[in-house]
Amino acid sequence: MRLDKFLCKSTEYSRKQAIEQIEQGFVTVNGEAIITPETQVHENNTILHNGQRLVARPSRYIMLNKSMHTLCSNVDGDYPSVMNCIDVERSWDLHIAGRLDADTTGLLLLTDDGRWSFNIINPKYHCEKVYRVRLRDPITEDNADELVARFAKGLQLQGEEKLTLPASLKVVSPKVVLLTISEGRYHQVKRMFFTVGNRVVGLHREQIGGLQLDVEPGLWRYLTEDEVSGFNNKNSEH
Ligand code: URA
Repeated sequence: MRLDKFLCKSTEYSRKQAIEQIEQGFVTVNGEAIITPETQVHENNTILHNGQRLVARPSRYIMLNKSMHTLCSNVDGDYPSVMNCIDVERSWDLHIAGRLDADTTGLLLLTDDGRWSFNIINPKYHCEKVYRVRLRDPITEDNADELVARFAKGLQLQGEEKLTLPASLKVVSPKVVLLTISEGRYHQVKRMFFTVGNRVVGLHREQIGGLQLDVEPGLWRYLTEDEVSGFNNKNSEH
C-alpha cells in the first residue's frame, strides 16, 4: 500500500496529516528517510515515525443492510449517509464496495482495504450481485421466456456502446424477479428494465459473490475471515 495510507492505518493521523509527516521527513522505511507519500510499502517493511516502529491496524470488512432513503456517501445530503449506521472508530477510513441508489435497500460492503474492494467492483472480475426487483408491469407466462433470453443475451442500454454482460433473470412472481448481474454500471438494474419497457418500483440487493445478506435493515456486522477470503483470490497478481 502507499506509505501515507500505511501511516493512517498505524497512527491517528488523517491522510492530510500523514502526507505532511512524510514530506517533512519524519518517516523512514527500512532505515531510509522517504519523503514521497505515494511510495509503495509492505507491512513487512520496517517503518518508523520519529524513530517509533509503526504497526498497521488490521483491515475491517463490514456488511450493512442499507435502509431505504439513505445515501452511499460520507456526508449527509437530501437523506442521511449510511455511515451514520456504522458506529466504529475512524469510520471515515471506510469506503463502499459497490454503491446503491438512495431508494435501493440491502447488502452493502464497507472496508478500508482497497485491494479487497477492487475484487468486488472491478468489472473484469465478474463478481455476481443478486437483486430482488419489484416491477411496475407484470411478467406474463407468454413473455417470460423471451425476457429471460434477452437478459441472458445482453441489453443495449441507452447511451452505451457495449451490451450488458449476460444476466440471469428468475421470475419469482409476476411482479417480482431475482436478477443476477456481474457488472455495476450506473443505475444498471433500473436501466435494464427500462430498456425492455418496464419500470423498477422496488430494488433490494440480497447477495454479492457468495455472501448473502443476513442482518436486519439499518444493522451491520463484521465479516468472518472465511467471508473476507472468499473475495480475495482474484487480484493477487496486482
Ligand atoms: N442498479 C440500480 O439501478 N440501482 C442500484 O442501486 C443498484 C443497481
